[in-house]
Amino acid sequence: MKREPQLSTLLVCVGLALLAFLVNASSAAAQANGDTNVQNNNGRGDDDRGAFAVKQGPGTNTGNCPALPPATDDITLPRVYCPYPPGLIPSDLTTESERVRREIRGIEQEAMAQAAALGPLVPTSPSQTLAGNGVRAVQVLGKLINYDENLSVFKNVACAFCHMPYAGFSGPIPSVNKTVVAYPGSLQFRFGKRKPQSYDYSPRYPVLHYNLTQANFYGGNFWDLRATGYKIQSPDSEQAQGPPLDTQEMGNPDFGCVVFRLSQAKYRPLFEGIWGKQSFDIDFPENTEKVCRTPAGAFGTNPAPLRLNPTSRGTASATFDA
Ligand code: HEC
Repeated sequence: MKREPQLSTLLVCVGLALLAFLVNASSAAAQANGDTNVQNNNGRGDDDRGAFAVKQGPGTNTGNCPALPPATDDITLPRVYCPYPPGLIPSDLTTESERVRREIRGIEQEAMAQAAALGPLVPTSPSQTLAGNGVRAVQVLGKLINYDENLSVFKNVACAFCHMPYAGFSGPIPSVNKTVVAYPGSLQFRFGKRKPQSYDYSPRYPVLHYNLTQANFYGGNFWDLRATGYKIQSPDSEQAQGPPLDTQEMGNPDFGCVVFRLSQAKYRPLFEGIWGKQSFDIDFPENTEKVCRTPAGAFGTNPAPLRLNPTSRGTASATFDA
């Protein structure tokens, strides 16, 4: 019992020393990084773009990654994250990523034109199914979402970035495929852990179950089948909820942010036409932009940094499931 106060004093000292070390190391790293995209912590807990600051630990930039793409009005990337040894990250990663992004934006334009050509949606009340062009409308909405870069925290990584049609719906960058295999997400250069799967057959997989004939588990999505499909009875839809929130993929800090970005999309009317006007009937708090521009991980273990009231959270959840 007597030793407890000493122990806690010791812990406080160690904690302070560690903190001092981290502060020094991160300011040293900031100085070492001469990049124009440097994001400074202005002391208010904000960064220069009005998002919450992303903490930088020691060694987060070894200088062994290519430069980030130039900032645009919409996108200012935070300070580069590159804790990697030399020779690991392909030197053409940024130029190749920009090539893929141009292709993706082209396909998104194509989908917008296809949406415009759909004509009015005709709900068959009261079942809410769509007559005539309904199937096509769902198809086009899927394409619009799949190629929408705005659904990632820094508006730079669409689903298709890791799943391009001409690469069998897997990763489209040859130098990455020959080396690291996994792809970088929205916060550059945080990498995913595995090779993107080719998802052309994944919608046909059933909910994960034990198959007596095969005497094994069958169904589910992902390499390890962990998207079982139990909650929304579709493994493919369930897995699609993962990448938008994955810190190493699209990096949104809250599923409400994905719904918020959808509410700002040019194709919002098509989404509402298919899923209903209530989809975005949500009271987004004043700091939504700020929260949603901050990458997942910056809020620690809090899975819901967006302060939505219970009704709005419920609506956002239903929209996210859609
Ligand atoms: C940063 C790269 C990256 C992005 C962006 C990304 N994925 Fe993936 N995807 C992967 C990886 C890696 C896997 C395999 C992961 C695993 O098994 O753990 C995967 C697996 C999948 C699968 C499973 C296929 C199967 O056969 O089981 C589907 C479906 C899929 N992704 C769809 C999507 C959708 C939809 C989005 C956008 C909402 C998306 N992906 C965004 C990298 C990505």
